[in-house]
Amino acid sequence: MRPRGAVLADPVLDRMLHSQDEIAERVAELGAAISEDYRGQEVALVTVLRGGLIFLADLCRRVDVPVTLDFMAISSYAGGGGAVRITKDLDDPIEGRHVLVVEDIVDTGLTLHYLLKMLRQRRPATLEVCTLLDKDARRIADLPLRYRGFACPDRFVVGYGLDLGGRFRNLPFIATLKDEVMG
Ligand code: PRP
Repeated sequence: MRPRGAVLADPVLDRMLHSQDEIAERVAELGAAISEDYRGQEVALVTVLRGGLIFLADLCRRVDVPVTLDFMAISSYAGGGGAVRITKDLDDPIEGRHVLVVEDIVDTGLTLHYLLKMLRQRRPATLEVCTLLDKDARRIADLPLRYRGFACPDRFVVGYGLDLGGRFRNLPFIATLKDEVMG
């Protein structure tokens, strides 16, 4: 494993923020907390493509209550003040179910704000959020984040699902980008 702060291979990457081991440990803790809280119940894990996929894949294997997996894809309206449009809906109904939305990162919170509003209309029994990264410096919408992996600094981060123009999602760790890359 590379030490934290090591110079990373790609020239646009700055520093390692969370190592593979650190992420695995935190994901296990989150899985244990979720298992405890939902003991005796089945949880519908719902993820927003594409970034949340990697986190979901690891998290669901650390949860020991029954789970189902479902996926949504959304895109933002240009100039829509954060409003989103569903481009791929869930396959299964969530009415009466315990729904846990799994996100890789919550930044402004606008995506999740609109998503939760849409999901609430479908009358789930409960609706909670688990995010790996909570970047609250730019938060606009106040959101109830039941589970949170790490507080995220106000930097552009990639890896473990998070991308820059589609790249870096497959990095097993999370890294910051060099400031000059983002202008
Ligand atoms: C990321 C992330 C959230 C959203 C958070 O997705 O997965 O869905 O941004 O940002 P917000 O809190 O400011 O609304 P992104 O739009 O990068 O798409 P991706 O998952 O396909 O990478």
